[in-house]
Amino acid sequence: MENIRNFCIIAHIDHGKSTLADRLLEFTQTVSKREMQAQLLDDMDLERERGITIKSHAIQMNYVYQGKPYVFNLIDTPGHVDFSYEVSRSIAACEGALLLVDASQGIEAQTISNFFLAWGNNLTIIPVLNKVDLPGAMVEEVKDEVVDLVGCDRDDIIHASGKEGIGIEDILNAVVERIPAPKGDPNGPLQALIFDSVFNSFRGIEVIFRIKNGTLRKGDKVKFMATGKEYNADEIGILRLDKEPRDVVHTGDVGYLISGIKQAKEVKVGDTITHVERPAAEAIKGFEDVKPMVFAGIYPVETSEYEDLRDAMEKLQLNDASLVWEPETSAALGFGFRCGFLGMLHMEIVQERLEREFDMTVITTVPSVQFTCYMTKGDPITIHAPADMPDPNNIDHIEEPFIKAQIITKTEYVGPVIALCMDKRGIIKNQNYITAERVEMTFEIPLSEVVFDFFDRLKTISRGYASLDYELIGYRESTMVKLDIMLNGDKVDALSAIVHRDKAYEWGKRLCEKLRELLPRQMFEIAIQAAIGQKIIARETIKALRKNVLAKCYGGDISRKRKLLEKQKKGKKRMRQVGNVEIPQEAFMAVLKLE
Ligand code: GTP
Repeated sequence: MENIRNFCIIAHIDHGKSTLADRLLEFTQTVSKREMQAQLLDDMDLERERGITIKSHAIQMNYVYQGKPYVFNLIDTPGHVDFSYEVSRSIAACEGALLLVDASQGIEAQTISNFFLAWGNNLTIIPVLNKVDLPGAMVEEVKDEVVDLVGCDRDDIIHASGKEGIGIEDILNAVVERIPAPKGDPNGPLQALIFDSVFNSFRGIEVIFRIKNGTLRKGDKVKFMATGKEYNADEIGILRLDKEPRDVVHTGDVGYLISGIKQAKEVKVGDTITHVERPAAEAIKGFEDVKPMVFAGIYPVETSEYEDLRDAMEKLQLNDASLVWEPETSAALGFGFRCGFLGMLHMEIVQERLEREFDMTVITTVPSVQFTCYMTKGDPITIHAPADMPDPNNIDHIEEPFIKAQIITKTEYVGPVIALCMDKRGIIKNQNYITAERVEMTFEIPLSEVVFDFFDRLKTISRGYASLDYELIGYRESTMVKLDIMLNGDKVDALSAIVHRDKAYEWGKRLCEKLRELLPRQMFEIAIQAAIGQKIIARETIKALRKNVLAKCYGGDISRKRKLLEKQKKGKKRMRQVGNVEIPQEAFMAVLKLE
């Protein structure tokens, strides 16, 4: 155990975690030159395409320091705020963290939040100034910022470049020198914390754990403490580039277990594995529950695929512990699920993963935050979907979630940033100059104003020089109303939204305009109306289509006709028929692009 070091790499998005991880793997010869490719640990297609880390990845390396062999378990973590739950779970499996700061950018919002997450969990922090090769590197200034944040000595900060391979050995040495070996009793009853899992259709669910106490041997009879279910440790091992089976996994190590579990429900991230004989007296304190920020319905495009979708969601949830969901019914869309996400990017990724990994075609509905309705009589009601909103006559008042938003930007953009936050019903709470050019601002803003297009707008007004981090601070009273959309007089529940009264008219008008652009024309006229209660506040009309699309090539080229039909079919892929109107997926997302 003395020779084990468990650490993660944390940073603001794009500060170079995955690239640095590549160099560490290369230097320690964990991967051969032939296996090496950029951002090796980002092995999901989606991660490669988007150039972001979505999942934490654990990998074991060997390193010799002053003639002594060491085993490193490295966890690369995502930087985006929507995946912070991945970071918080990884931290529970580590004693130390490399905190990377891009020398050309300086400290950003998630540098601060991830630092506090690691620090609050008593991790030893190794500050690393990364990308020192860049001509724009502001080494001295950024070091000042790091000293300020971390409270370390200037000399503790390691200069590095993942791209040029600078400082790699210094980092590896610091891992041995500064990060403590894991503690724990190898002879005590087994306690292993499950911090991730993966669905494998051939072998059953793979469970990823970190052993706090005790030793796990192949063939042992184990029990998951939360569910009480017992299994045989058919295969155990460690995580290299692939899984590597072992006969024994020791205290302090990160490893995997395969025991033929088929039911996703049986595996809970945060659960403790122990032995059936000589069980641990208590489970390891698990993880805090996720607090979803945005809710939306996910429905199968083909109503008959409801059960398949449920199955896919269960499997996806194994690998994405931050996804929460429950069954939901919509008058417009039928049976589906109301899902909670950590943000819009998370929602997009869930939809994409359902399609790519589980071959589902789904429709996601208008996203919404969660509100609390205080009733004139009876208990308050929590609503996740506009459709659940009770009759306004029975509502005393409504509360909506507020967040504390931390924005770091250049001083020249302070004015526009404040204006944007005010427009979003925000209140400025604090303003703090990190350096003469950079300022950190704190706002309190309704979550509903931030989750959708806020970040895009922030980036635009600051020409990219702004970073944002936020946390929930509680619920506050607001005058919210339910805005309904009707198509040819039929209310489409999946298009309803709960909006602030002062913004409802503008919202309704723009949404109608947007829908007019997005809904395909049909053989009849379509009236689009926005209403609050009985009152119509906006209206648009889509004129009827005069000709049949096929009429154009009547008698003409058959292959062209086929192409046209093919195209129509494709277009249909993500459409739902509501009454006699077809609604494409984009229409449900139109609310996100109103401004
Ligand atoms: P997320 O996991 O999505 O938060 O990103 P990340 O922190 O893992 O960053 P990643 O390693 O994907 O690098 C982001 C970008 O910075 C890529 O374009 C890299 O090529 C570039 N980059 C990373 N390290 C260095 C470096 O040391 N020097 C220079 N010049 N560029 C770097």
